[in-house]
Amino acid sequence: MKGLERIRRLATRAAIRSDQRRNGHGPTSGADLAAWARRHLDGTQLVIVSNREPYSHVPGPDGIRSVWNAGGLTVALDALARAMGGTWVAHGNGAADREVVDEHDHVPCPPGRPRYTLRRVWLSPEDHDHYYAGFSNSALWPLCHIAYVRPRFERADWESYRDVNRRFAEAALEEVGSGPALVFLQDYHLALAAKYIKRARPDLRVVLFWHIPWPNAEIFRRLPWREELMEGLLANDLIGFHIHLHAINFLQTVADTLETRVDREHRAVEREGHRTWVRHFPMGVDVAEIATMAEMPETRAAEERLRSELKLGDARLGLGVDRLDYTKGLPERLRGLERFYEKYPDWVGRFRFLQVGVPSRIELEEYRTVRTQTHEAIQRINQRFGTPDAPLIHLIEDSLDFRDLLPLYRAADLCAVTSLHDGMNLVAKEYIAASPDGQGALVLSPFTGAARELERAWIVSPYDREDLADVFLAALTEAPEARRARMADLAEVTRRRTIFDWAIDVLESARSLAELPPTRDTQRRRISRRSAAKPESRKARST
Ligand code: F6P
Repeated sequence: MKGLERIRRLATRAAIRSDQRRNGHGPTSGADLAAWARRHLDGTQLVIVSNREPYSHVPGPDGIRSVWNAGGLTVALDALARAMGGTWVAHGNGAADREVVDEHDHVPCPPGRPRYTLRRVWLSPEDHDHYYAGFSNSALWPLCHIAYVRPRFERADWESYRDVNRRFAEAALEEVGSGPALVFLQDYHLALAAKYIKRARPDLRVVLFWHIPWPNAEIFRRLPWREELMEGLLANDLIGFHIHLHAINFLQTVADTLETRVDREHRAVEREGHRTWVRHFPMGVDVAEIATMAEMPETRAAEERLRSELKLGDARLGLGVDRLDYTKGLPERLRGLERFYEKYPDWVGRFRFLQVGVPSRIELEEYRTVRTQTHEAIQRINQRFGTPDAPLIHLIEDSLDFRDLLPLYRAADLCAVTSLHDGMNLVAKEYIAASPDGQGALVLSPFTGAARELERAWIVSPYDREDLADVFLAALTEAPEARRARMADLAEVTRRRTIFDWAIDVLESARSLAELPPTRDTQRRRISRRSAAKPESRKARST
């Protein structure tokens, strides 16, 4: 069976590659995905569901304007939704979001060039406190990331999480109507949604992609409501992770938590007659679109403006683009930079650093702390080494539109992605895709999913400031030819698995795995269930 599945996936990839060669074009594109969907999902509606919306509407000086939310998940899935059409259900949290929707809470997206429908779900301030800031980001987020922040478990948060998941599920069901559909849930905010969807419509195919790490089973045991959460997750037909290790951790967690059959060989879980497949699919970015946007005259002009505003002159520029989150390792990165200037004083003034810090979850103390630590470290470094008119480290603390990131990527001679733990980290891939001259350098933490693929990046532990300082130096002083070869290699890896390859793999797996016959073990179990009235063992079994 495993062989059959692999053959199908390889055949799909081979067909796409051969089309690409025939048409003389490079990476898998939105058009390839659309063609695949026409061939294989004919008549099946796609409904994406996520907490964060791809576009928000906010009041501006000239009326309401839209903002393209720059998060990795939203930008990547926007490319998928544009290619396939359909509906995206998400929380409407822009200040002017309610003013632009129709009576069904719909707004066409992308604004001005509509390709799909955004259905907004409204959450109250209490929902925000308990479901979003509470259970999602004070319990699940620290539980799943190894950043040594203790999770907080509050029953009221859990109850709100359950309630909001049900409402997202109801909104998805309304969008589906009565026809066939594939509901594609995103991330840790929606662990229970599949249960409510399947309860109403068991015929729908439901897939969840978990964008953050999955911890080992011992850590997960801390969650008081783990059984209900796992039951919710196992209502999905397919669960995807970025890397193999997280899929394996998940299977072990299932085995430790619930009475169920965990089939490690086929990476599937069987429970109460339902099977959930568990797979890993490393996510990519829309390489062609990012490269095109990076070459636009307005992007080049914005890059020039940035260079002159920063008074860069001949100095080299380092870049960090992160939410102000304790998982992103900002204080650690800054300690590495400080050590760099201490150890290599020649570089003071010759290497400057631009940090984009996207304000995030500021209602939580841990996030305010990381913000304060970031401010303090930048101030200290600038006082120690910079001059008042040319600070060495510059912080842009703002939620940027994705288009505003491109001039920054272009300008950067080095991009530092030094998270303490990350499911994937798409900034690493966006930077590569937006660096057409191949002159950059990527400094990457081994604790990101991206490090599994981008092996030729400068891999360095964020916990070791000596190493960080030395890697910054090595990356800046590498001979131009070697640097170009390294970047070309990274670009090739990024091109080989775009967001559209990811989408085809996930959707193809959802389609073909559902068609597979039961495993031999399952067949055996069904026969024995029919023939023997023996009670099931209480203990989870693993095969
Ligand atoms: O890393 C997980 C993730 O969901 C990303 O995919 C996304 O960029 C980020 O968290 C969004 O966080 P929030 O929606 O809380 O701003």
